[in-house]
Amino acid sequence: MAPNHLISCQDLSVEWVEDLFGLVDRLRPEDKPLKDIKIATLFYEDSTRTRVSFELAASTLGAEVVSLNPRLMSLNKGESFLDTARTLEALGVKSIIIRHPDSGAIDRLAESLEKAASGLTLINAGDGMREHPSQALLDLYTLKEALDDLQGKQILIVGDCLHSRVAKSNIDLLKKFGAQITLSGPPTLIPYCFERFGVNVNHNLDQALREKDVIILLRLQQERQHKGLIASLRDYSRGYLVSHERIIKARLDLGDLKIMHPGPVNPGVELESSLVDHPKASLILRQVKNGLKVRMGILAKLLC
Ligand code: CP
Repeated sequence: MAPNHLISCQDLSVEWVEDLFGLVDRLRPEDKPLKDIKIATLFYEDSTRTRVSFELAASTLGAEVVSLNPRLMSLNKGESFLDTARTLEALGVKSIIIRHPDSGAIDRLAESLEKAASGLTLINAGDGMREHPSQALLDLYTLKEALDDLQGKQILIVGDCLHSRVAKSNIDLLKKFGAQITLSGPPTLIPYCFERFGVNVNHNLDQALREKDVIILLRLQQERQHKGLIASLRDYSRGYLVSHERIIKARLDLGDLKIMHPGPVNPGVELESSLVDHPKASLILRQVKNGLKVRMGILAKLLC
């Protein structure tokens, strides 16, 4: 059977996603659908939400989970990524969930595995600046829960789109479900090329905040800000911190506005602390909770 990977939102049809969400809603963890299946996680970058929720999702569904530490593996002795994957497969692992700093590293591994007639299923838990498909799927699930239909809904994505794999996966998936996307952030972090994704770009946040149904904040990735693309954190916040005061100035009240963030939040840099836990507007903890449900669905859909 050809392996069934989750690598990019570009590969996902509306029907596939709707089928996944149906499965998420009817899944019965007590049936242990992944019993006797071995799943490995291999994270080359730090993670709390994605790693823990994938590992909990797999173990809740009955799988045996192997949590690999790349710093302690033979990759450091020259073993290739492909050899590592094939060694894990020979040990009975059926799927590897990978976070990698290089954009496209997981595609290259999938191509090599295909040539080697491997049956491993790869799941992309974030590759460089490119894609984070399980985050986009849990964001979409959370939005459909809150708003029902996304057709024509106005979604504003604010921040460092250039480095953000969350932004790229979300743009792709939310557009497939009919949402209208606007990006806002400094021109250095949203270069002109983003317009070819079929989104609006408005570098003036105070204007961009008007008449939006949802704001998705992006984490300012301080570990990737070494190229002088922002003058300082203070300067960034002056232009792009989403605060209660700024929202009220732009649109009079919060209304039914929903606020999302993939986490971890830099409070006071991209989002004011009082909005992180806002009881009506914030969906941030709901995103985390749905992350577990949606990742259970992803594993069941790909591996059962
Ligand atoms: N949203 C997200 O990917 O968070 P982690 O880096 O904690 O997994």
